[in-house]
Amino acid sequence: MCRPTHFDVTYAINPWMDPAKPVDTDLAVAQWERLHALYGELGHRVDLIDPLPGLPDMVYAANGATVVDGRVLGARFRNTERAAEGPAYLEWFRARGFETRDPEYVNEGEGDLLTTASYVLAGRGFRSVADGHAEAQEFFGRPVVGLELVDPRFYHLDTALAVLDGDEIMYNPEAFSAGSRAVLRRLFPDALLADRADAEVFGLNAISDGLHVVLPEAAVGLASRLRERGFRPIGMDLSELLKGGGSVKCCTLEIRATA
Ligand code: ARG
Repeated sequence: MCRPTHFDVTYAINPWMDPAKPVDTDLAVAQWERLHALYGELGHRVDLIDPLPGLPDMVYAANGATVVDGRVLGARFRNTERAAEGPAYLEWFRARGFETRDPEYVNEGEGDLLTTASYVLAGRGFRSVADGHAEAQEFFGRPVVGLELVDPRFYHLDTALAVLDGDEIMYNPEAFSAGSRAVLRRLFPDALLADRADAEVFGLNAISDGLHVVLPEAAVGLASRLRERGFRPIGMDLSELLKGGGSVKCCTLEIRATA
């Protein structure tokens, strides 16, 4: 995770961002601190990367890289405003002895590359590109399933889909092209489908450890459906970070250390 010390909205690269709207950085830090503390309470180890001045979006650690089987594919951002984040995150991993790859094509880390037991699900349409998916497949040696995002509000895969456990996922069908919806139905016939209201409050930008599902607290419908499936949803208020177009998952890069 990356503390939002320098968080702000000074440019707009997704429809949630409005540089004219004031941002309360102290409140963002306080909300982020609660998420950080929660992970500790749930028994998860959290490592931190130093926030860099001039990179207001660096708090969205999910975009920093993708780690599968302890191997790290660096991120390459579409927008120049975030370009310096890729090398910063990659250096963090390199310094800790991880095997890393400098990406050749645009991929925005776990914003667009989500790992299930059988696949890496890969978003494209707004940020990451198909060549980046191919690069991820070759590097990780796992089947990468490309999915076309069509609604600019759900510009990263992790704003429209979350992995709950193994090959169990939840997603917002309306965020995907017809063909990608059909692929998701075929691969995940038992998936939890989120309704529009839950998707619009970023309910799918969630982190699951297989039991606890941490998600935006406004996604009340989704929380009760998760409970019916045996999960323990935990709602968080990350309203300040939503002004940058991110929530729980965006603030969290998962380090899958072992194969
Ligand atoms: N402002 C950031 C951007 O538009 C938000 C990134 C959110 N992160 C995520 N994993 N979806 O790039």
